[in-house]
Amino acid sequence: MMEVAAGHDERDVVLRADSLSKRFGGLLAVQNVSFTQYAGEILAVIGPNGAGKTTLLNLLSGVYRPTSGRLWLLGRDVTSDAMEARCHAGLGRAFQIVRPFPEMTVHENVTVGALFGKHGTRLPEAREQAYELLERTGLAAHADKAAHELTLLQDKRLEVARALATRPQVLLLDEVMAGLRPAEAQEAVALVRSVRESGVSVLFIEHLMPVVRDLSDRVVVMDQGQVIASGTYREVTANPQVVSAYLGTETELHA
Ligand SMILES: Nc1ncnc2c1ncn2[C@@H]1O[C@H](COP(=O)(O)OP(=O)(O)O)[C@@H](O)[C@H]1O
Ligand SMILES: [Mg+2]
Repeated sequence: MMEVAAGHDERDVVLRADSLSKRFGGLLAVQNVSFTQYAGEILAVIGPNGAGKTTLLNLLSGVYRPTSGRLWLLGRDVTSDAMEARCHAGLGRAFQIVRPFPEMTVHENVTVGALFGKHGTRLPEAREQAYELLERTGLAAHADKAAHELTLLQDKRLEVARALATRPQVLLLDEVMAGLRPAEAQEAVALVRSVRESGVSVLFIEHLMPVVRDLSDRVVVMDQGQVIASGTYREVTANPQVVSAYLGTETELHA
């Protein structure tokens, strides 16, 4: 077991990765990645393209099994659990590529999430929860539209609503701000903050540094599959190893 950071209690740990690795043939896409996320924390995972961020998220959500290492969710070892079991155990995920059911309405899309999230949720209850989530995510006015009619920002909101419908305690977001205009990204930032205020811990991957700065309590920096730094936004962006990992990339490190 790893140590618990000062000021935190073992019981506050929501997610713990212990030396997770994922090999694709000859490539170690994720190599001995360890981190701890505490309840109520917004944790950012950043790093240059190809650093292994999405692969890490796929290890967390259960899309991939790790080649080695272990993962704990809310004190329970979920390393061998499938995606659906992790979802039932409290892990929710919104995807980088938005993929709702395009012909179904916005409300139906979220209802599906509510039905999927917990065993024994009945349809009327799921429909009611879906309406509440559409209110919370600013989509209530679009409830009866077909999902394919939404704008990109609304699509992202729908992805978050669908993930929240599974009633996660930890929400994973992979570049949900991608493609948004700055003003829209600010709206999305506000939405993620409100998610945290509702008691959900958030782990997000993001390449927009202003978003990372505004949203994260702590940042984990990956490069070439490994964690090269972790700390506050200020700490990691001042770290010479992080600066050099970003040199020559198109991302401006200092937002
Ligand atoms: N399914 C896969 N099969 C083989 N290689 C992969 C696969 N997924 C990702 N990779 C490779 O793993 C590395 C990390 O990719 P990825 O996790 O997508 O990085 P990031 O999200 O940080 O840009 C890259 O070199 C990528 O080409
Ligand atoms: Mg990625």
